[in-house]
Amino acid sequence: MSESKLEALLDERREFPPSKEFAKQANAQPSIYKEANADPVAWWRKQADRLTWDKAPTKTLEWELPFAKWFSDGTLNASVNCVDRHVANGLGDRVAFHWVGDPEGDKRTITYSDLLTDVSQAANALTSLGVKAGDRVAVYMPMIPEAVVAMLACARLGAAHSVVFGGFSASALSDRILDADCRFVITADGGYRRGAVAELKPQVDEALTKCPDVKAVLVVKRTGQDVEWMEGRDHWWHDVVASAPKTHTPESFPAEQPLYIMYTSGTTARPKGIFHTTGGYLTQAATTHNYIFDVKPETDICWTAADIGWVTGHSYIVYGPLTNGVTQVLYEGTPDSGGKDRWWKIIEEYKVTILYTAPTTIRTLMKWGHALPQAHDLSSLRLLGSVGEPINPEAWIWYRKYIGADTCPIVDTWWQTETGAIMITPLPGITATKPGAAMTPFPGISVDIVDNDGKSVGNGEGGYLTITAPWPSMTRGIWGDPERFKETYWSRFPGSYFAGDGAKRDQDGSLWLLGRVDDVMNISGHRLSTTEVEHALVGHPAVAEAAVVGASDDVTGQAIVAFVTLKLSADVAEKDQGPLVAELREHVSVMISPIAKPRQIILTPDLPKTRSGKIMRRLLRDVAEHRQLGDVTTLMDPTVVSMIDGLMAQHSSDDD
Ligand code: PRX
Repeated sequence: MSESKLEALLDERREFPPSKEFAKQANAQPSIYKEANADPVAWWRKQADRLTWDKAPTKTLEWELPFAKWFSDGTLNASVNCVDRHVANGLGDRVAFHWVGDPEGDKRTITYSDLLTDVSQAANALTSLGVKAGDRVAVYMPMIPEAVVAMLACARLGAAHSVVFGGFSASALSDRILDADCRFVITADGGYRRGAVAELKPQVDEALTKCPDVKAVLVVKRTGQDVEWMEGRDHWWHDVVASAPKTHTPESFPAEQPLYIMYTSGTTARPKGIFHTTGGYLTQAATTHNYIFDVKPETDICWTAADIGWVTGHSYIVYGPLTNGVTQVLYEGTPDSGGKDRWWKIIEEYKVTILYTAPTTIRTLMKWGHALPQAHDLSSLRLLGSVGEPINPEAWIWYRKYIGADTCPIVDTWWQTETGAIMITPLPGITATKPGAAMTPFPGISVDIVDNDGKSVGNGEGGYLTITAPWPSMTRGIWGDPERFKETYWSRFPGSYFAGDGAKRDQDGSLWLLGRVDDVMNISGHRLSTTEVEHALVGHPAVAEAAVVGASDDVTGQAIVAFVTLKLSADVAEKDQGPLVAELREHVSVMISPIAKPRQIILTPDLPKTRSGKIMRRLLRDVAEHRQLGDVTTLMDPTVVSMIDGLMAQHSSDDD
């Protein structure tokens, strides 16, 4: 399609009617909204019957705002729901994962029977290492099948996993291990990224110098690189798991047994341990996966192109799809590992039918041009999903046109680590979609958009997104900090959950998400707090003060721009600033993760502050996005901001 044609399509901002093909055989029928919204609690109880319960719940919701319990007198085992029951139903030979490694040709096929054996052996091995129900286990792994097995083995034992994204640094890992008091770590020697070896075990070793209570580390040999070994603490997976008994009798746990903790950035420097429990979470993960992706487990091949280190991987690689017994592609690499058409080769080879990814990736693929996807047979695809950040209409149209043959419905799904599962989304076959809009709450979910005073806004207006009734997969809190949970989410608009996102209703009442309204940035779909990055920067000996903003970026959605003042002792001549800036970027990468590396660091003699000493980030954002500067009259020294603006302009022309 030519650029002008693309523009014409965008100009029309046309609505895409629901797919007739889906409507014919869709899992969701139009009556679903009426049924669910007439009595959401009863509807969710019905959905809970998707699970195999050892004792079916008689209670549905107990709600003591902001703490919910769902299905609390029911008992079940999450790993049985994801694995054993499918094998018991005669589906043991169904492929659970077509695993595709980063290096081309490195692949494995894992059936549900294989998965059952692997999970049983891992559960036996973890038991022999001392893991018990109620423990927390850190998982720091590449995207290999053992990562899923590790999660399910913890779940099988009633131990909560805390998966830490493999891209996080040793320091981020030790913070998370300590916060949740994890006594066990499951990791690998390393992983592959674009053919190169990435280290994991050395980061664990470094992290554990600060975590003396960790008793055992279980290590998968993935790359074969040399690693340090602490006898008595470290154990190879291929020794202890491979030799463990192949069967394991699962225990039954209450629905509210903690299933996992997932750390996410808030508005302070300290990440929050968002924790989820079992019965309600699995119910909503499976229900949303079923209706939104319209999965037909007998025929679909689902590919959620996300890392299991984030919540998308938890809900839509592990718990939702496995509860539903579907076949998936699990891919270790990046979109350009082994060539910029790697994704299209994978879709063609495995005949992927449902693809779920983030707008930042779509924009990257779009940048590489449509000739690459067009050179491959993508006709197996029948549904496309988007998650993690607002999708710009250009990317939406490109995704539909070039990847979805102009026929696949696109589901733009809004949710968060805290919500556990999708909350706002179209339903294929039912909802007419608009490029860039998440459209409508999922059945059984109540949201509102409110103004500063908490009053609902009308159509055509914007405000703050709130959730007005409890939902099964809602987080049960911040690990170890119930007060912070109340304060962060439930105090801004009493009685409602404050998501931290801006949203609007258009003239038809469709919902559009507008991005964060707090100090949380969204970099390539990854959540990072400005304060976290500032904290890392001021931890460098040369830095006096730092202010960080998320500036809009064509590919990554937002990019980090940091404004830094140096200590007098560290001041360097302008011509010598380059190496220091490089050092500071590296410092952030080491303290948090390469994804937190600022795109740009501007060294400045001063920062714009109000008379009460507060840094005016709003003005810095204007500077970073090259906008007309806003009101500067409240500043202590109004000249500072124009000076920074000048520095920024100078740096931008240096970049050119
Ligand atoms: O700002 C919203 C954005 O991502 C945030 C949640 O990030 P996280 O907890 O890391 O979970 C990401 C994957 C679910 C939200 O507060 N976000 C997520 N999905 C969308 C979105 N923004 C707009 N549209 C979406 N579909």
